[in-house]
Amino acid sequence: MTDFPILTWTDPAAGTTHTARWRSEAGNPPPKRVTIADDRTTADAAYRQACEGIALLWRGDFQNARQLLQAMSRRADRKPRKAATSPLDAFNLHRQAQSQRARTLGMLLIPLQADYSIDLRRAPDVHEACSEAYGEGEEPSVVSLRELLGLIGAHEWRKKGVEIPALDGERIHPHYGVFSPVRGEYVDLVAKAPLPSQALAFDIGTGTGVLAALLAKRGVKRIVATDQDLRALACARENLSRLGLQSQVELREADLFPEGRAPLVICNPPWLPARPSSPIERAVYDPDSRMLRGFLDGLAAHLEPNGEGWLIMSDFAEHLGLRSRDALLAMIEAAGLRVAGRDDIKPKHPKASDASDPLYQARVAEVTSLWRLKVK
Ligand SMILES: C[S@@+](CC[C@H](N)C(=O)[O-])C[C@H]1O[C@@H](n2cnc3c(N)ncnc32)[C@H](O)[C@@H]1O
Repeated sequence: MTDFPILTWTDPAAGTTHTARWRSEAGNPPPKRVTIADDRTTADAAYRQACEGIALLWRGDFQNARQLLQAMSRRADRKPRKAATSPLDAFNLHRQAQSQRARTLGMLLIPLQADYSIDLRRAPDVHEACSEAYGEGEEPSVVSLRELLGLIGAHEWRKKGVEIPALDGERIHPHYGVFSPVRGEYVDLVAKAPLPSQALAFDIGTGTGVLAALLAKRGVKRIVATDQDLRALACARENLSRLGLQSQVELREADLFPEGRAPLVICNPPWLPARPSSPIERAVYDPDSRMLRGFLDGLAAHLEPNGEGWLIMSDFAEHLGLRSRDALLAMIEAAGLRVAGRDDIKPKHPKASDASDPLYQARVAEVTSLWRLKVK
């Protein structure tokens, strides 16, 4: 018995049946119908089959598969979209279109050898990218080209890192699946807010460790940083050591808070109360605002007298009609907290100037805030 899903396909030319481990970060089941595709497969035929749920296992030149995927993406993007009747409707239609697009484009498959080599012409060396995301390979597997390109992109980001001006221009190197501080305005908010104490801080959901690193640089002597995700903890550990801050920051696997109280507790939870479509979206989508609620509800019990909770929250959900400002204020109130101050910043990300983006209206209005919360 194996503890991973298996993809089965037949090779009509040879009349043989094959199996391999199926890899899908989103946890999608292996496609039931699989056909063989190669350099002779046209984009129209590939796209039609993918839309019908037939996966195409690639046997041709690797770079041609990349081009085929681009051609399939263009066809997916040409699909007519329903006009939205409200921002919430626009968001729901956008998520639906994204998930349908992901399903269709995820139908072009690449076989990987047990050591992650790819036995196709002009194939890149993806050993490092795959080992970083999946761990050492143990058996032949099959993955969608779309997921594989994501892994390669993440590997490049991890190598290059993201420059953080608030960390004196030092770089944070995000790992695959870990929330990247690429839109760094929120980091600037944390860099500027007056510290209530330099003795101790908790960083709830540390991700790459960027905020823990910033607090350490600002002179906070000890920081306890938590995350539930092992990839995040490994990533934070690596970043903090690279920055020479490991002795100030203790990393712990925990659901929200560590034990005890601190004069400063910070949290940058996912900001959209909606269902993530894959584990790597969990840093953005938080069904029913679970982490936000958990942070607010547990804050009073983890703050020292006169301590401050810093909640970093974009109001994007409010502009989409997913959660109202009143609902957020009611959650703060119900948790026995009061707002001691709020600093705002406008995100500068490129999509905020892309008028063809279906969520453009909400993006241009978006403001990210650092809410300074105290016990009532
Ligand atoms: C939006 S990311 C923020 C990461 C980092 N603090 C930053 O500001 O870049 C949210 C993080 O919270 C983590 N997380 C989600 N639920 C959690 C929970 N219940 N307990 C601890 N961490 C959690 C996620 O794994 C993710 O790393």
